[in-house]
Amino acid sequence: MTDLEAQLNTWRNRLEDHLDQALPGEDDEPRALHAAMRYSTLDGGKRLRACLVYLTGNALGARAEELDAPAAAVELIHAYSLVHDDLPCMDDDDLRRGKPSCHKAWDEPTAMLVGDALQSLAFELLAASRHSRAAEMVHVLARASGSLGMAGGQALDLGAVGRTLNLGQLRQMHALKTGALIGAAVELGALAAETDEAATLAALRNYAAAIGLGFQIRDDILDIEGDTDTLGKQTGSDAELDKPTYPSLLGLQGAKQAARQARDEAIESLNTLDIDTRQLSALADYVTNRIY
Ligand code: IPE
Ligand code: IPE
Ligand code: MG
Ligand code: MG
Ligand code: MG
Repeated sequence: MTDLEAQLNTWRNRLEDHLDQALPGEDDEPRALHAAMRYSTLDGGKRLRACLVYLTGNALGARAEELDAPAAAVELIHAYSLVHDDLPCMDDDDLRRGKPSCHKAWDEPTAMLVGDALQSLAFELLAASRHSRAAEMVHVLARASGSLGMAGGQALDLGAVGRTLNLGQLRQMHALKTGALIGAAVELGALAAETDEAATLAALRNYAAAIGLGFQIRDDILDIEGDTDTLGKQTGSDAELDKPTYPSLLGLQGAKQAARQARDEAIESLNTLDIDTRQLSALADYVTNRIY
């Protein structure tokens, strides 16, 4: 196991405990809603966004206890986005994280409400964290989740079905639907560490934008050449829905080249920082080469 993998596992375990405590219990009424919220959030996923909060905050000197709430909050928003993304009115996917999607395990109204409630819980955790920068954290996460961030990117994605986007439009769609939350994760880590230096924040934002793009390009590639069992989600779904993706626009080789470029840009952005960026650098490589 690499040093990065070992660190990611440590942060993942920490996050899991925190989410487990933060989510209402399955015996709390309304029981089906709470069971579905836990099902859609716990014990699954790579936890990239939470790990980015922890890795960034840790590199900048924040204590782990200060990073738990923002790490959980960004994963809750992400989990909500996946539950809604899989609904029949969106991507209509029946498999997520190796299990039936939320609307398959329960039903569509429950999946709608799971998304609503996970989103509220995310902001509740931040607001209740009593961190001196909690209000700014709420601001960052709200902006990244909304119509100028993830939700807006999802709208662009749905509006692009069956159309050909140019590279600039596709890049913008990816920046919003995926990049915004990844950017928020890095910003939340920096806020938790009370980092205000403009040059540091600018370098971290460039890093996050590059890995956000690289991550979604890799997701597009894996939808073609990935393995359903390994990914825990159905492959081929982009082509079936006629979604514009990096491979559909540039071909598989072109998409891989774009992913490599995003990785290089990410690593270059870190060069100006005078903190230990080894793990963030290794993460850029992992994100753009992953098979899961
Ligand atoms: C899937 O995200 C949706 C995208 C934004 C590409 P992840 O690949 O991070 O999903 P999990 O959390 O690991 O399941
Ligand atoms: C999902 O993108 C992005 C969000 C959920 C915001 P995709 O639709 O490509 O994600 P997967 O492939 O279903 O995980
Ligand atoms: Mg989608
Ligand atoms: Mg999808
Ligand atoms: Mg995808």
